[in-house]
Amino acid sequence: MDELYREQILDHYKRPRNWGELEDPDLQAEDHNPLCGDELKVTLRVGDDGTIEDIRFSGHGCAISQAAASLSSEEVKGMKVEDLLRLDRDFVLDLLGIDISATRMKCALLSLKVLKSAGLGHAVDWEPDTPKSEAEARS
Ligand code: FES
Repeated sequence: MDELYREQILDHYKRPRNWGELEDPDLQAEDHNPLCGDELKVTLRVGDDGTIEDIRFSGHGCAISQAAASLSSEEVKGMKVEDLLRLDRDFVLDLLGIDISATRMKCALLSLKVLKSAGLGHAVDWEPDTPKSEAEARS
């Protein structure tokens, strides 16, 4: 199973979907991974009813970050901005489907961070590195 997900990640890395920039977007945001400096920008076209009609990512990063952006772009097209803001780290981790080490977690979560920042109109915090359930279990 892992092998399938790895192939999918490589495929999205080599042929990223919805890559580029929209002209005159309704919403946009950019951010970077502080651990490596890699950058990602997202531009969104949003309909009158708040539906994300089109999306483009641009920037540079490792296979995990590029694949996460590409996979997310396919999922959020057609989604309402308010629903986008409710997504959490599990959304991206489920799409990637493989275990992500702590050192690569920001690679995986960068695209969600820029997506939610665009939706809110200002920068949002990083999703927690550990799932809520684990954090609660420890406290
Ligand atoms: Fe830079 Fe992954 S190493 S985003």
